[in-house]
Amino acid sequence: YIGFHFNSKEQDLAFDDEQSGIRKQIVIKFSHVVAENTPKGLAAQKFADLVDQKSNHRVKVEVFPNGSLYSDKEELEALKDGRVQMIAPATSKLEGVSSKWQVLDLPFAFPTETAINDGLNGDIGKSLLASLNSQNIKGLGFWVNGLKQITNKSHAVIHPNDFKGEKFRIMSSNVLKKQFELLGGQSKPMDFNETYRNLESGNVSGEENTISNIYSKKYYRVQDYMTISNHGFLGYALLMNEDYWHSLPAKARLIIQDSIIETVKWNQDHYRSMNKEQLSLIKKESNIQIHELTSKEKKEWIEKLNPIYKQYEPIAGKKLISEIRNIQR
Ligand code: LMR
Repeated sequence: YIGFHFNSKEQDLAFDDEQSGIRKQIVIKFSHVVAENTPKGLAAQKFADLVDQKSNHRVKVEVFPNGSLYSDKEELEALKDGRVQMIAPATSKLEGVSSKWQVLDLPFAFPTETAINDGLNGDIGKSLLASLNSQNIKGLGFWVNGLKQITNKSHAVIHPNDFKGEKFRIMSSNVLKKQFELLGGQSKPMDFNETYRNLESGNVSGEENTISNIYSKKYYRVQDYMTISNHGFLGYALLMNEDYWHSLPAKARLIIQDSIIETVKWNQDHYRSMNKEQLSLIKKESNIQIHELTSKEKKEWIEKLNPIYKQYEPIAGKKLISEIRNIQR
């Protein structure tokens, strides 16, 4: 991630209280909803380790995974209220903060992984992080989970017709709702950590997520079919309460930014292999039937989904939509 530049003199700043000899530990609570063995779970732990090391134990990041502190519905409010200092929600969950974020939910927004990096490191990422400024939220960067796949229960989902009669768990996002509508299916917004139970009971028949979430939350055990469709993006905005950010000693802020840069790079190098490895574990541990969407089938999906781009132009803004369109070329 580009965007932060330090000069080494600033790096040498002392913690504010070092002169007085009073050594206070700064504790940053970091809440997230996924399992530890995922791109976000591991990046969060790595971030905590780096901050600990660089600050010589003066800044402690306490990571709370699996929604153990706050669910995805609660964590944004908890951040704004200062009950938690840091979160990394899926970008889909930020449409209430600014409708611009919906651009990343558009189906097939990123055709390749290189395109993801171009988008997040370029104008799209900058404009999205800047949209947080008015909300007392400091956007520090992005981590990526990967591209989403479809799982469901009764039959393979290959052609748009196959969505009929199926109800998919979605994150609370208007674009995702519209996506399933256009494909001919239904959807139900639901907390991440409620999904397994609802799939198991049949309250919803399917869901969309990345391999690492499907694997770590064991959805593949209660689903019979998986379509490798790569139809949607899942990534995270690294957010801190802005008042809290400004209350930190300058040295702590630099250590945090430095550690963010390192984890962003680490995440970019590892999220693909994690999803790949966990796909082979799913194959080994279950009989789930897997279909990889052919380019011809993908075209059928895209044809159905195209109207969503026109519809979201006034909402996400013409500029962002055309930037996404450019990336797709
Ligand atoms: C989901 O709710 O499916 C994801 O946002 C979970 C996550 O944070 O990866």
